[in-house]
Amino acid sequence: MQTRITELLGIKHPVIQGGMHYVGFAELAAAVSNAGGLGIITGLTQKTPADLANEIARCHDMTDKPFGVNLTFLPTFAAPPYPEYIEAIIKGGIKIVETAGRSPEAYLPALKDAGIKVIHKCTSVRHSLKAEKIGCDAVSVDGFECGGHPGEDDIPNMILLPRAAEELTIPFVASGGIGNAQQLVAALALGADGINMGTRFIATTEAPVHQNVKDSIVAASELDTTLIMRGLRNTERVIKNTAVEKIVEIEREKGADLAIDDIMDLVAGVYPKVMTDGDMESGAWSCGMVAGLIHDVPSCHDLVNNMVADAEEIIRGRLASVL
Ligand SMILES: Cc1cc2nc3c(=O)[nH]c(=O)nc-3n(C[C@H](O)[C@H](O)[C@H](O)COP(=O)(O)O)c2cc1C
Repeated sequence: MQTRITELLGIKHPVIQGGMHYVGFAELAAAVSNAGGLGIITGLTQKTPADLANEIARCHDMTDKPFGVNLTFLPTFAAPPYPEYIEAIIKGGIKIVETAGRSPEAYLPALKDAGIKVIHKCTSVRHSLKAEKIGCDAVSVDGFECGGHPGEDDIPNMILLPRAAEELTIPFVASGGIGNAQQLVAALALGADGINMGTRFIATTEAPVHQNVKDSIVAASELDTTLIMRGLRNTERVIKNTAVEKIVEIEREKGADLAIDDIMDLVAGVYPKVMTDGDMESGAWSCGMVAGLIHDVPSCHDLVNNMVADAEEIIRGRLASVL
């Protein structure tokens, strides 16, 4: 499959692994890139820019294919030194950066001057158009189904993707809710140039997370996620667990008076406990509705290559046959 995205990024398959906190380490990024997709290291999971430089070097040791780094501009509780992280990215020879959270405008000149292609991940047509206007090379359009932060508009990909196709000139990939070949075909049909997956890539053999995380994604149905932090305009789709039940209860009690401090211990510092220690009830962690379509834990090679092969079969077979 060749699309504007495979061409832009120099990859074999139009499949990207989105940045994921405490999941997007070198092992996963290298495995996805070796499978012919684009693996992405999560920049801010590395505690310092020096740690990120080290993680990039580890990834170079595991693959000679292109891979990227995610830079997330979410409201964090202590602002990270973004210019230093960008310096580590540039010095590490990275040519693709996925930005997310807020507009990357302030950091675009530094990235573009270094010849880096910027894919901005956002959840609306208006933010996608802004990304195009400020000079991003591509966008990742993240629908309401997605694991992580779906924004506040609640537009599912069946509407969001064709709306993006109506408006955008730059290439875009479909993100959120995708985990199989039928959906890859659908994304292409809706106008996208490829796909970005998060949750599906956690349930792979190479994802360097505790087995409990993979097991809970395989066990979850499409009904097992919920939204938290809407009252703070920082909505996050997470898997339901006892900590999330508490958050939902606190949110109901506090109503419009909800403040981040009310739920801080249930949402901050949770990722190492979940992803590394496998303590699944320790707090809220992002997971997409696509969990309902995830029934196995394949290697990244098998996942990506089977998805693409099956998608080609659907296009040549079932779709051609209805004409
Ligand atoms: C556990 C987890 C952690 C994530 N962390 C980040 C992150 O740090 N930065 C970011 O831009 N996106 C993050 N995301 C979002 C993903 O990159 C991707 O956009 C999203 O998972 C796509 O939806 P899907 O899970 O339905 O495939 C995370 C998603 C998950 C599931």
